[in-house]
Amino acid sequence: MSETTDFIADIMIAISNCTLYRKEHPAVLHLCQRAHGRLGALYAEDTFNIALLEDSLHVNGQPFSEKSLHLKSFLKRLKRKEIEKIIISRGVTAVELMEFIAEVALPGRISGTYPHIVWGIIEVKRGSGAGVDVASVMEENIEKLKGVFHGVARFKRLDMAGLEEIVVSFIDTLSQEVNILKVITPAKSYSDYTYTHNTNVAVLSIFQTQSLGFSEEILHDIGLAGLLHDVGKMFVSKEVLGKQGKLTDREWEEMKKHPTYGAMYLATLPDIPKYALVAAYEHHMKFSGGGYPATRRKGERQHIISQIIAVADFFDALRTDRPYRKSVDPFSIIGLLTETSGKDFNPYLVENFVRSYKQVTAASS
Ligand SMILES: [Fe+2]
Ligand SMILES: [Fe+2]
Repeated sequence: MSETTDFIADIMIAISNCTLYRKEHPAVLHLCQRAHGRLGALYAEDTFNIALLEDSLHVNGQPFSEKSLHLKSFLKRLKRKEIEKIIISRGVTAVELMEFIAEVALPGRISGTYPHIVWGIIEVKRGSGAGVDVASVMEENIEKLKGVFHGVARFKRLDMAGLEEIVVSFIDTLSQEVNILKVITPAKSYSDYTYTHNTNVAVLSIFQTQSLGFSEEILHDIGLAGLLHDVGKMFVSKEVLGKQGKLTDREWEEMKKHPTYGAMYLATLPDIPKYALVAAYEHHMKFSGGGYPATRRKGERQHIISQIIAVADFFDALRTDRPYRKSVDPFSIIGLLTETSGKDFNPYLVENFVRSYKQVTAASS
C-alpha cells in the first residue's frame, strides 16, 4: 500500500475516533501526528491535493486506483460532507490537521478557518428520483446500523457519526423517492429484523415529520430517535429476543423492559439528542394512557416525537412477517391505525400519516 493509502487510513481512523472519544482523546492526536509525518512524502511541489471526481479519487491530479476499506469510507465521508477537494499546503501542523479532521467528523458544514488547508464544496444537485437505487441504499444503511449496534454495550460510546450518516442518507433518499413503500425495506431474515425495523421506523418517522413541516434539524434528531428507539433490545436476553414463537408471560415481562433499558443506556452517553432518549422510553406508551412502561401519568401525554415514533413503530411492526403472525397489508394497517386513533395514537398524527401516505402512494402508482 502506498503512503497516500496509509495517510487516508490514519485520517479515517482519526475521524472515527473523534466521533467516539472527541478530538481531545490522545489517540486522535497520535493519528494526526502520524498522518502529518506522512505528508512530507506526499507533497507535489508544495501541496497535497485530494479531489473527488465522479465518484473516484484523484491525488495530485492523477486518478488513484488503490482500494481499501478506509479509502471507501473516506470517499463516502467526503460525499456526505459535500467536499469535492482538499488541498493541504506545506507548513500545516498536526494540530491544524486535527482541528480540520474534527470538523469533518462532525455533522454539518465546515466553518473553521485553516491557514494551510483549503477545501471545495460540491454543489448538490437534487434529482427527480430517476436512477436512485433505493433498495441498495437501504441495504447499505441496514448493514451500517448492524455494525453500530454490534458495538452497543453498557457505558461504551455509540458511533454517532455512523448513525448521522444513515439519517442524512434517509433524508436524501426521501427527497428523491417519494413513495414511502419503496423506501421501507422488508426484513430479509429473522435475525435481520431488529435492524430493518429500526431503519424503517427512522424512515417512517422522518416521512411524517417532513409532512408536518418540522425544521431540518428536528428531522435529523427524529431520524436518530427512530434508529435508536429499540436500542434497549440489545440488553434483553438473546433467548427472549430471538425466540421464534409466542413469548411466555415471564419472557414478555422481560421484553417489556426494553424501553427502560434503552433510556438507561442512552442516558449514559454524552452526545445523544434528548429526543432519542425520551422516545426510547416512551414509544410503547399509548396516547390516552396505558401501554408500557407503566407510569402514573395524570393527563400527561408522551412527547410528540415519541407519538410520531409510536405510529411508525406500529406501521412497520404489522407490515412485517413475524414467527407468530403474518404480515398485514398496508391498506389494512391504515384501517387499524384509524380505528385506534385518539386511543392508542394521536389523532392529528394519524390523520397526517394517512393523508401523506395516500398522497405519495397515489402519486406514484
Ligand atoms: Fe420497542
Ligand atoms: Fe420498535
